[in-house]
Amino acid sequence: MEIVASVTNASKQYKTGDTVITALQPTTCEFKKNELTLIIGPSGSGKTTLLSLLGCVIFPTRGEVTICNQRIDGLKQKELANVRLKNIGFVFQSFNLLAPLNALENVMQPLLLLGISSKEAKQRAEEALRKVNMENRMLNLPKMLSGGQQQRVAIARALVTNPSLMLCDEPTAALDIKSVAVVMEELKVLSTTGKSVAVVTHDLRLKQFADRIIYVNNGVASENPTEEELFH
Ligand SMILES: Nc1ncnc2c1ncn2[C@@H]1O[C@H](COP(=O)(O)OP(=O)(O)O)[C@@H](O)[C@H]1O
Ligand SMILES: [Mg+2]
Repeated sequence: MEIVASVTNASKQYKTGDTVITALQPTTCEFKKNELTLIIGPSGSGKTTLLSLLGCVIFPTRGEVTICNQRIDGLKQKELANVRLKNIGFVFQSFNLLAPLNALENVMQPLLLLGISSKEAKQRAEEALRKVNMENRMLNLPKMLSGGQQQRVAIARALVTNPSLMLCDEPTAALDIKSVAVVMEELKVLSTTGKSVAVVTHDLRLKQFADRIIYVNNGVASENPTEEELFH
């Protein structure tokens, strides 16, 4: 299957003053089309760091990151921003919708940033909102929507540019149990439409939605964790 993103011996250290924190030890993994990968592990283990490397938000201290066959180390900030905008959709725990804009306007934003006309942006945003079954709430402001509905709008905003890679950091952490299932179902469906979806979580209940699990502990990422590792 086609590889959308990969990290090769990529590690990340943060320097604060004279202390060095190794957030992620050298890690090698691939993310393929039509695959939902769960990145699971305790708080502070390096999950967000791994996701940020994949999202071209930070550079690795050592090693390589490749997105859609393009090596990202060595790119300038502007080129990096372009890679992000074209290939990657982000979904966050806190939805990050713009409060004064309705659902439709929120979803249109990434397209307007890409210089697409507002007429086309509107059509594509409506289509994205239909995909997450939010077509009836398009004109609502975020505050009129439940947490689960806001997250589905945020997913529509992430997918409206048709990215190859969807990166979700604790997307269900702020949701009630029923909305967790709805949001994960939406992400699962997306992962069958030619995208690679990576979901960071500390919630073991999400296992049922995963095609594959990467376990992160103490900055060390491993594939196919044992039950014991997962539940320790
Ligand atoms: N910008 C930063 N500066 C310094 N330390 C950081 C920074 N980001 C993360 N860390 C540290 O790196 C480790 C891993 O963090 P993170 O990847 O956010 O873990 P997780 O998402 O699994 O909770 C933690 O010890 C955290 O404190
Ligand atoms: Mg985190």
